[in-house]
Amino acid sequence: MLAKLLGSLIACAAMLIGGCAAPRYTSLKEAYAGRFLVGTAYDPANFSPAEVENIQAHYNVVTPENCMKPASIHPREDAYNFGQPDTLVSWAEANQMQIVGHTLVWHNQTGNWFFQNADGTEVDAETLRQRLRSHIHTVVGRYKGRIKGWDVVNEAIDDNNTSETAKTEHLRNSNWLRILGPEYLTLAFKWAHEADPQAELYYNDYNIERGFKHESSMRLLKRLLAEGAPITAVGIQGHWDLNPNYAAIEKAIRDYRSLGLKVMITELDVTTRGTNTGALPGFGLGAAAQAAATRTAEEAATQAAADAAEREAAWKKQAVAYERLFKIFDRHAGTVTRVTFWGINDRRSWRATQQPLIFDGQMRPKPAFQAVLDAAHKRPWFPLPF
Ligand code: XIL
Repeated sequence: MLAKLLGSLIACAAMLIGGCAAPRYTSLKEAYAGRFLVGTAYDPANFSPAEVENIQAHYNVVTPENCMKPASIHPREDAYNFGQPDTLVSWAEANQMQIVGHTLVWHNQTGNWFFQNADGTEVDAETLRQRLRSHIHTVVGRYKGRIKGWDVVNEAIDDNNTSETAKTEHLRNSNWLRILGPEYLTLAFKWAHEADPQAELYYNDYNIERGFKHESSMRLLKRLLAEGAPITAVGIQGHWDLNPNYAAIEKAIRDYRSLGLKVMITELDVTTRGTNTGALPGFGLGAAAQAAATRTAEEAATQAAADAAEREAAWKKQAVAYERLFKIFDRHAGTVTRVTFWGINDRRSWRATQQPLIFDGQMRPKPAFQAVLDAAHKRPWFPLPF
């Protein structure tokens, strides 16, 4: 601690002598180098050269947005689609970027074939266990040594709140749980570890930083660790709006660290209108789109001006939120080992109508981009006591 303090004092003195030449970052990954990785979601299809350049400039880790999900990579029992995933892995390696595999066990974007016999009846537990083991071994094994870590289990905790939920693991009533029982999570982690012992393994979910889902996540993680599940980190997805619960986020980071786990923000986006969550589907602005369809030209022009003013104000608020979030992540660098944005720009975002990212649809930096850099510019020079 004393050595760290002295080091910082010397660095600060050197900075003052050097004319306060604090670094002015222009690249996200450089601003957070040595603190945590900065990532984006990316599937290698139809990207413009400007978009590819942007990814190369700002990120040092990529997560495939869709192409490694069970339904994409393993659509039928006897068929795997490795085309896009292989392209992504080779591209990332050629660009010195790390890769996160997303995702092995999920209730969404997973073929029904996993749960059905040829005649359409439901499979028994032993058949499903073998199918899941084979899926994990095949997919993780194929990229052994090349993928840094896997979102092994995605979103296993249920959303509905009842008086009992916080007191239990409150697992989602998915086919996995129904047929295999709660041990399916431990098994998935063990099989992923068998397939690539060097790979980091993550439990990934949304809204687990707050409220009853947080309580359930702590119970679940403690049980998995006690059962010997080789978990490296918790992925907090980070689908937030203009009012993230900052205190809860910081507490959750501390709570997960107390279990000996690292924390990753795995799917960050901050919507500028409406609320946000990791839940699919139910995004979009149905009512607003309907109103737009019946407007006169004059009304449309008035509306456009109002929209622009509203947008500017919302983007400013969004910048404030992003800066506060990155200050928290930066304070906990070391526990927080990666922050990944869910997409490269507003146009490509899964929440496109809510403009949740730091680059606009034309790849231009929004105020939030500068705010994320500023969180690094304003990093305190002294070591923090946590
Ligand atoms: C989303 C993708 O961004 C969309 O393109 C797709 O249509 C649906 O899935 N939580 C997750 C991600 O773990 O895989 C989801 O990604 C967003 C919520």
